[in-house]
Amino acid sequence: MPTFNLLLLPGDGIGPEVMAQARRVLDWIEKRGLATFNIEEGLVGGAAYDAHGKAISEDDMKKAMASDAVIFGAVGGPKWDKVPYDVRPEAGLLRLRKDLALFANLRPAICYPALADASSLKRELVENLDIVIVRELTGGVYFGEPKTITDLGNGQKRAIDTQVYDTYEIERIARVAFDLAKARKNKVTSSEKRNVMKSGVLWHEVVTQVHQREYKDVELEHQLADALGMQLVRNPKQFDVIVTDNLFGDMLSDVAAMLTGSLGMLPSASLGEVDPKTKKRRALYEPVHGSAPDIAGRGMANPIAMIGSLGMALRYSFGMGKVADQIEEAIANVLASGHRTADIRGSATKIVSTQDMGDAILAELDKLAA
Ligand code: IPM
Ligand code: MG
Repeated sequence: MPTFNLLLLPGDGIGPEVMAQARRVLDWIEKRGLATFNIEEGLVGGAAYDAHGKAISEDDMKKAMASDAVIFGAVGGPKWDKVPYDVRPEAGLLRLRKDLALFANLRPAICYPALADASSLKRELVENLDIVIVRELTGGVYFGEPKTITDLGNGQKRAIDTQVYDTYEIERIARVAFDLAKARKNKVTSSEKRNVMKSGVLWHEVVTQVHQREYKDVELEHQLADALGMQLVRNPKQFDVIVTDNLFGDMLSDVAAMLTGSLGMLPSASLGEVDPKTKKRRALYEPVHGSAPDIAGRGMANPIAMIGSLGMALRYSFGMGKVADQIEEAIANVLASGHRTADIRGSATKIVSTQDMGDAILAELDKLAA
């Protein structure tokens, strides 16, 4: 039986509640004798700040570096609004992405028919939607230097963020998108702002070259990022794989999330380069939703994005695609049978708790595996 080293970082807000449900799925996999998990748990975000005065401790960083996968909940909350910028909760997540070199962020947005009414868009626009946003995750304006606020001495301050992309960074994220498209509907839409930004000019040029050189058999189109935002809410089913930079990817994936009915539905995988020797890659899996401090601790949170993220870990890090398929099917069945947490209630009359949703998914998994 394969053994995997996992670091769980539940984080803040609803993070621990949804992580508890993912943990039940891990237990289920172990009980069925499919894999063994060496599980360690650490602190990140506000929880780490409260314990160590940092957004993640060196010790937990080491564990993350040594793990086969990090399973991450969520970070942040009003309690830490005033902590110094360098140790704000989000800094823990950004450091993990950067130090683990997790350049490829896969954010699938699937609209289950049962949830089409929970979306703010018309049913026919979103029903059966199945797209993936491939977001570049370790470059761009998130990490570019200089990144400063300078006092100009005349009562004015100047803030600078820097958008930087090198050829190799665009090439490798483009390849992830093209490879993914090949296993799907074979279409990539690349998005930037080449009409305003030099980084957009280079992005467009490099993606076009990679396509010409290596992926001529995949359909490629380009859309400016503002237009793509508009198209995502106008006619989202025109897309298959969208590849874009760190900041545009952040914004567009929140938009895509709402197409599926709720932010509580979107899982994500953040992947590093495959090591040619070990064939392994560093990875972190997290729901796209945040820590939702307004509903934290009330047993209301939707654990589907967290459990779906664990499913992605099984698929991309553990070679357990069959169990990943079963998890996806269990989620679809549970939704089809009417289980709704508050965020996806639509016109449903019965709302279930975080734990109930976990129970229902486990019961469905039992059926599927029987
Ligand atoms: C996300 C989040 C993060 C980001 C925050 C928490 C730093 O919004 O993963 O989409 O901006 O990347
Ligand atoms: Mg975001």
